[in-house]
Amino acid sequence: MTAVGIDAIEIWTGNLKLDLPGTFAPEKGEDPEKYTKGLGLNASSFPDSYEDIVTMGANAAHRLMERKGLEPDDIGRIDVATESSFDNSKPVSTYVAGCLEQVFDGDFHHANKGERKFACIAGTQSLDDAYNWIRAGRNRGRSALVIATDTALYARGDAGEATQGAGAVAMLISEEPDLVELSTEQGYGSADETDFLKPNQQFPSVDGKRSVQVYLARMREALEDYESVAGDVHPEDIAYIPFHTPFPGMVRKAGLLGYRHITRDTSIEDELADEIGRQPRREAFDDEAAFRDAVREYMDSLKETERYREWYDATIDPTLSISREVGNWYTGSVHVARASALKTALEQGRDLTGKTMIVGSYGSGAQAEIHAETVGDGWEAEIEALSVDDQLDARYDLSWEDYEKVHDVHNHEMDVDVEEFTAPDSEFVFDGWGRMGERQYRYVE
Ligand code: CAA
Repeated sequence: MTAVGIDAIEIWTGNLKLDLPGTFAPEKGEDPEKYTKGLGLNASSFPDSYEDIVTMGANAAHRLMERKGLEPDDIGRIDVATESSFDNSKPVSTYVAGCLEQVFDGDFHHANKGERKFACIAGTQSLDDAYNWIRAGRNRGRSALVIATDTALYARGDAGEATQGAGAVAMLISEEPDLVELSTEQGYGSADETDFLKPNQQFPSVDGKRSVQVYLARMREALEDYESVAGDVHPEDIAYIPFHTPFPGMVRKAGLLGYRHITRDTSIEDELADEIGRQPRREAFDDEAAFRDAVREYMDSLKETERYREWYDATIDPTLSISREVGNWYTGSVHVARASALKTALEQGRDLTGKTMIVGSYGSGAQAEIHAETVGDGWEAEIEALSVDDQLDARYDLSWEDYEKVHDVHNHEMDVDVEEFTAPDSEFVFDGWGRMGERQYRYVE
């Protein structure tokens, strides 16, 4: 079977930055360590007044296509995953294609376009759609462009305000991919939940504490479902486990789940048995509540062991390096986590070719998906080509007053005109409204 997966990625961060311990925490009267240690965040990326989900998505896609030497004719499908859409009918992918047609010869009239929605998991669902389209043999030799783009803004004063972010990830899905091959096995955990939603409103209604519990419950189910189809998983083959990362503190909790499920029945458990006993098994308990209590107790002891901390530092922590500096990118977040892991491996000179990553995606509402990926032999060149560090360094550092202004600019209910904090350079910008209320864009050289 021909390998299908992600051939290349590009990341585009919002051009502004909000320093959480330095600017946000003092303004909120909070201890900066709540951000750096509790939530695990140093900063959030923010969109400048001329940026939105279309400009960030189109900029990431433009850079990706240029770097890979692609023309519109090479792309048979453009899917945008977002939970920040501004149009209930016309998909964001048509706006993105319109932008790209300004800078490439040719157009995308032949390409199937769509928009995927299921909160943050929609980016991975779009990846799955592209995979299935190629596997079904409908791609006629073309690749798919999957773009996960969001402005993750919360109402001012909402607890979620601490975990905001803005950015896009563009992914090229092809046969014989350089970066990672996707496996066919998937595990799901899905239920009708009310943890985070936007019923015809721009800023989310969130039950923050509950959303954390729902994330963990669905992720556990997805891991169990994955185990039932994947058979024996050998932890020594697992290089990284990138999870959806609304904030790194969330992944600290998910890491325990990953450990329990991925390292099951292995030497690691044997090593730990003398120290903290064996992982509880469902069949040894009469009722579910007693089993869950035993699991919780095991997890609490596990967290304190050196063996677990070593495993966490090697397998999970490297997935968080970019997220710490940018906050939540919703649909792009798990794809940023994958990129962080690969980038760390490159910096450490690790040979990852042929290694496995277990990817844990989550979307509120709620659904989790687990799948495996095998790192391809062109991964180093692809990751080396990313300019994410330069982009992060170039962001304009917002003062509190700047932050309030730019938040208002992006609030659809307010009509405020604010200066740009940065000068656009070789990128798409929002250029006002058209006669039917559509958003318009232009490329700035
Ligand atoms: N030093 C060290 N740690 C500190 C601290 C300090 N001075 N002060 C607080 N902390 C720790 C807390 O103990 C807590 O850690 P634990 O959960 O491990 O105990 C952490 O910092 C956060 O503190 P609080 O719980 O007090 O923070 P909060 O009340 O402001 O709410 C939140 C946190 C619920 C995550 C809120 O930011 C929120 O609502 N975020 C949006 C929703 C969200 O991201 N949910 C995640 C799951 S849903 C999802 O994943 C979908 C999605 O993308 C939104």
